Amino acid sequence: MGRIIWRDQMGIGIREIDDDHRVLIDAINDLNDLALAKTPDKPKLAACLLHMIRHTRDHFEREEQLMANVRFPGIAKHKELHGAFAEAILAQAQLFVDKPDAVTARSVQAVLSGWVLSHVTSANRDIVPHLRARRVPVNAVRWTPDSR
Ligand SMILES: [Fe+2]
Ligand SMILES: [Fe+2]
Repeated sequence: MGRIIWRDQMGIGIREIDDDHRVLIDAINDLNDLALAKTPDKPKLAACLLHMIRHTRDHFEREEQLMANVRFPGIAKHKELHGAFAEAILAQAQLFVDKPDAVTARSVQAVLSGWVLSHVTSANRDIVPHLRARRVPVNAVRWTPDSR
């Protein structure tokens, strides 16, 4: 496992979502840097977990609102993926609280990085053909129902 490099192909063409995904990748890269550090830094690991919990909560809300706005038919399935990830990250945070010695930057990275990468590069791209079919102008979608 190493740092993940953002590539333009990872974007769905909607700035708010792509920016969110970059933040997620940055967080995974922070975990990687923490894992490579000579001494463990538990406060930084705790801060990283908290940041990811907050960011994913906000991001999932934004993404699900977009999907609702453009009537994406795969929204229910996609919400399940979000729910599963939210559970996985909260489980890591709970484990960190209960048994801090059992949780390391590397173990958190191992659990979360695959999901983030597949979310950004594949699962999330499900929506791109739908946006194209509906001729939704990219970078013009807003989060209010008026954008329908
Ligand atoms: Fe998503
Ligand atoms: Fe996403």
